[in-house]
Amino acid sequence: MFLGSLRGRLLWWLLLPLAAFVSVSGWMSLRSAQATADLMQDNALVSSMRIIGEDIDWDNGSVVVQIPPAALELFESPEQDSVFYRVEASGHRLLAGSTELPLPPRTGYDPTFFSTRLDDGRTVRAVAYVRQLYDSGRREEVTVVVAKTPGSRDAMVWQLLRPQLLGEVLTLVLAMVFVYLGLTFELRPLMKLKDDVADRNPSQLEPIRVARLHFELRPIVDAINRCIARMSEQTATQRQFISDAAHQLRTPLTLLDAQIQFARQRENSDAPLADALLGMHKSSHRMTRLTNKLLLLAQAESAQPSRVRERVDLNAVIAGVLEGLIAFAQTRQIDLGAELEDDLFVMGDEALTAALVTNLVDNALRYTQAGGRVTVEAHCNEDHDRALIRVVDDGPGITAEARARVFERFYRASSGTDGTGLGLPIVREIAHRHGGTVTLEPGEGGIGLVVTVEMRLWEAVASTAGTRGDI
Ligand SMILES: Nc1ncnc2c1ncn2[C@@H]1O[C@H](COP(=O)(O)OP(=O)(O)OP(=O)(O)O)[C@@H](O)[C@H]1O
Ligand SMILES: [Mg+2]
Repeated sequence: MFLGSLRGRLLWWLLLPLAAFVSVSGWMSLRSAQATADLMQDNALVSSMRIIGEDIDWDNGSVVVQIPPAALELFESPEQDSVFYRVEASGHRLLAGSTELPLPPRTGYDPTFFSTRLDDGRTVRAVAYVRQLYDSGRREEVTVVVAKTPGSRDAMVWQLLRPQLLGEVLTLVLAMVFVYLGLTFELRPLMKLKDDVADRNPSQLEPIRVARLHFELRPIVDAINRCIARMSEQTATQRQFISDAAHQLRTPLTLLDAQIQFARQRENSDAPLADALLGMHKSSHRMTRLTNKLLLLAQAESAQPSRVRERVDLNAVIAGVLEGLIAFAQTRQIDLGAELEDDLFVMGDEALTAALVTNLVDNALRYTQAGGRVTVEAHCNEDHDRALIRVVDDGPGITAEARARVFERFYRASSGTDGTGLGLPIVREIAHRHGGTVTLEPGEGGIGLVVTVEMRLWEAVASTAGTRGDI
C-alpha cells in the first residue's frame, strides 16, 4: 500500500541506492579497520618477540632464556587475551614456553607471521624468527615464537568500525526523514489541486488556478482546464438551447391559454368561438410540431455510432417519405417526383435517414409556390463510394446571407409560413452522425434551391471492411 503512493515509491527509489552505498562503504570501513587492527596486533607480536629474543644469552656454555615481564605486558587488555610463546634451541631443545604452540612451516631470520589453531581449537595469530648466538666459536640458532588469541584485535576492529557505521546509518535515516518531509511539503500543491477539483460542485466550471505550481504539473492543470472549458462551452450551448426551446414553447402556450379563456367567455356566440377554436388548433398543432422536432433533434444528437451502421435501402426510404407527403403536395398543387438510381444502399439508421429526407421534402413543398415542382434525386457519385441525395425545387430559394444562418437552431428565413426553424439543423445533425455533409445551392439559372446530402454507400464501406459481416 505504501509503495502505491508517489511518496512511498520515491522514498523507495532513494532508499535502494542509499542502502547500497551504506553497504559498500560499510564493507570498505570493515576492511580498513581489520587492516589497522591486524597491523597493530602484528607490531605488538614483533615487539614482544624481539624483547624475548634479546634476553637469550649464554650461561656456562649453554643457551638460557629469561622471559622479561615487559614482553607479555604488551598484550594486556580488557579482553584478557591468552599469550603463548615457545623458545627452542637447535635440536628442538625447549628453552621456554610450551610445545603446544606449533612452529611455522618455515622460519627465517626475519619475522614470519602466521595463523594457526591450537590443540584446544583456539585460533591464534603468531610470529616467529630465528636468532643466531655465538660464543667462543660456537654457533647456536634459537627459534622464538610468540602468539596470542584475537580478542583485543577483534575488539579494536569493532571500535574502529562503530563510529563509521553509526555515521552512515545516521546519514541514511536523516536523508530519509528530510526527503519524506521535503516530499510532503512539495506535494502540497498537488494535494491542494486534488482538493480543488474534488470539492467543486457540478456548476463550478471556471478554470483551476493554483498559485505555486511546479512546471511538471502545469500541463496536467492545463489539460484539466481545457477539459473544463469544453464542458463549460457545451453546458452553455445546452442551456441556450433549453432557454430558446422554452421561449419557443411559451408563445404557442400563451396563445392557447388566451384562446381557451376567450372561448370560455364567449360560449354562446358561435362565430368567435369557432375562430378561437381554430386558433387553439393551430397553436396546439405548432406545439406538437415543435415538440416532435425537439424530440427528433435530441434523438439525432444522442444517436450512438453503432446505431447508424444498418444497411438502408435509400430508394425505399425516399419512396416511403414521398408517399407520406404526396397528399400535402397535392394540396399545394406541387408536382412531386423522384429520379432514383437502382440498388442504392447506404450505411445508416433507417428512421433518421427517413427523417432527414422528410425535412428536406417538407421544406421544398412548403416554401415553393403553388404550381411548382419538387424532385428528389438519388444516385451515387463518380467515385462510387457515396450516395448523393438531392432535393431540387423551383421555389424562391434562400439568399446567400440566409444560407449562412439556416443551420442555426430556431432561425427562420421566411415569416409567411409556420415553422420551428429546427428542420435544417436536424438535417445537418443527422448527416453529421452518418459521416455525411449537407450543402445548399441555388438551382439551375439561380431559380429555386438544391439541397445535397452525401452519405456513405453500404457497398463502399463493406468492401473497405473486407466482408459485410465485419461492419
Ligand atoms: N426549399 C426551401 N426554399 C426556400 N427556403 C427554404 C427552403 N428550405 C428552407 N428554407 C428556409 O430556411 C429556413 C430554415 O428552414 P428549417 O427547415 O430549418 O426551418 P423551418 O422550415 O422554418 O421550420 P421547421 O422546423 O418546421 O422545418 C426556413 O425558415 C426557410 O425560410
Ligand atoms: Mg423546415
